[in-house]
Amino acid sequence: MRLLPLIVDTDTGSDDAVALLLAAAGGLGDVRAVTTVAGNVPLATGTRNALISLQAAGRGDVPVHPGCERPMTRPLSTAQQVHGHDGMGDIGLPDPERAARPEHAVDVLLDHPRRHPGELTLVTLGPLTNLAVALLRDRDLLGRYRHVYCMAGAADMHGNISATAEFNVWADPEAARVVLERATPEQVTWIGWDASRKDAVMTPADQLRLEQLGTPMATFAHRVNRTVAEWARDVTGLAGYDLPDPLAMAVALRPELVLEQERAHVGVSLADDTRGQLIVDRRRSAPAPNVTLVRRVDEHGFKELLFNTCALEGQ
Ligand code: BDR
Ligand code: CA
Repeated sequence: MRLLPLIVDTDTGSDDAVALLLAAAGGLGDVRAVTTVAGNVPLATGTRNALISLQAAGRGDVPVHPGCERPMTRPLSTAQQVHGHDGMGDIGLPDPERAARPEHAVDVLLDHPRRHPGELTLVTLGPLTNLAVALLRDRDLLGRYRHVYCMAGAADMHGNISATAEFNVWADPEAARVVLERATPEQVTWIGWDASRKDAVMTPADQLRLEQLGTPMATFAHRVNRTVAEWARDVTGLAGYDLPDPLAMAVALRPELVLEQERAHVGVSLADDTRGQLIVDRRRSAPAPNVTLVRRVDEHGFKELLFNTCALEGQ
């Protein structure tokens, strides 16, 4: 089977790390480059975590390119209360063996699809800053990718960082707006926290199954999500911790896992009390749809992909 050529843009924290395992180790993706952005953690920390995660996937050779170190107009607000101070559960992971590359993430996002038009799939797992800055330089960029999948938003307005907003959009709502202003539903698919909350929750039984696999990748995936598990129990009220970025990556790798999706016109609130909230216009008089929103994913299929990947012994 032909591997899916991928670029992954990530603010690597603990669930991004698992998404990178799916992309790089599972036999479905061919990760050509990883670009990093400030979000869950400061840029240097996220870049370190991306390098560690690729190494855990047996793909320490994939180039990692640091990008924007703060949102377009706002100060950086991280999610270290969720993912740990180091973004990886504070379990004392050793430094990666390789270093990041000097080319800026935005240049990489611009250059790769110019060299391989229509071939690459872009998956974004963090705030949309790098992609938005790239779009300011090339407004046709989205169409140069085969498709763009973003872990972004909460289409049911059930938020995780505020009452109604999801972290990645909340962290840089101006960037999300730039992306939505240039998107079409054929080019861009968003997989939001609503789908993750329903279809990607690691129940205690799932957590035990992951831990008991006993392979290096399963142990890594289990341990880095330690602080998320505590946060989810105390804050979200879910029956476990959810894996938003791995779910988005699974959709990119295996689109047939999608059970429900809609095409809609989506905007983003920039107001203080609703910052980052999606404005989904479903009226008959709404402007033309600008994005495809994934609303439900095959939970069993997603988890089998996760467990099967983590069960691999690595390279
Ligand atoms: C998103 O925010 C981050 O904490 C996760 O990595 C994911 O990308 C979920 O709202
Ligand atoms: Ca993320």
